[in-house]
Amino acid sequence: MRGWSRAERAAGRRVAFVPTMGALHEGHLSLMREGLRRGASLAVSIYVNPAQFGPSEDLEEYPRTLQDDLAKCEALGADAVFVPTDQTIYPEGFQTYVNVERVTGGLCGGARPGHFRGVATVVAKLLNIVEPDVAIFGEKDYQQLVAIRTMARDLDMPVEVAGCPTVREPDGLAMSSRNKYLAPSERRAALSLYRSLGVAEEMVAAGETRAAKVLKKVSQLIESEGARIDYAEIVHAETLEKLDKIKRPALLALAAFVGSTRLIDNRLFA
Ligand code: PAJ
Repeated sequence: MRGWSRAERAAGRRVAFVPTMGALHEGHLSLMREGLRRGASLAVSIYVNPAQFGPSEDLEEYPRTLQDDLAKCEALGADAVFVPTDQTIYPEGFQTYVNVERVTGGLCGGARPGHFRGVATVVAKLLNIVEPDVAIFGEKDYQQLVAIRTMARDLDMPVEVAGCPTVREPDGLAMSSRNKYLAPSERRAALSLYRSLGVAEEMVAAGETRAAKVLKKVSQLIESEGARIDYAEIVHAETLEKLDKIKRPALLALAAFVGSTRLIDNRLFA
């Protein structure tokens, strides 16, 4: 992998990198297009990273659709696809992890202990393997994007970290590999996350600055559709610290269970 990347750069081409866990959808493809749009050679990785799943999470069930994914990468014009095994990433004796501290304390980091340690570790490894000029991440996983930016800065990683907007289904549901788990009857409940973001935006646009007021409305709307809130918070968009009074740039971040499927979404008040 590194040989390919170094040859690209020796030939004067920039390398863009999009790490994924596969089950590729339009969200992933939009990141890949952004890499190509920047005139770079594009490397994609497909690796379901065990280190970022908790013991009671969906590692075993996580959708694996490699042949389909490779066809999508090829059709889109990716130049290299890296599909490492667990042995390659976590060989016998592996014992070094990356911990990004404050920005991973709340939100998904609070709800999924160890999750971001797994994410930061695998992304650090992938960046060291691929040595890209730019690595591209989705704003759908906003806290992940902030954590990776923080890691790259703090550890002097020679890479630009770029973010891309959330790609949605026509009805607004944020695209996610986990949407595959949703039964038709759960699809409607899942949409309540997106709808609640719109309601929150209207409240903020109308001058509401009390986070508690907005969050109460958001929670009511989501729970009335039969989903269960994991967290709903308004945080500073850079530090991810909780805000009682909404002040831009702020982020409304949500996680909710629809049946046993955990979905996340967010809205930035820039
Ligand atoms: P995965 O969930 O496969 O997502 C890969 C990338 O696609 C992430 O940067 C994610 O934010 C982005 N993405 C997912 N859904 C999106 C959507 N609807 N719109 C825009 N971008 C979207 O995130 C991971 O994998 C892993 O944690 C990983 C970074 C690969 C480390 O294992």
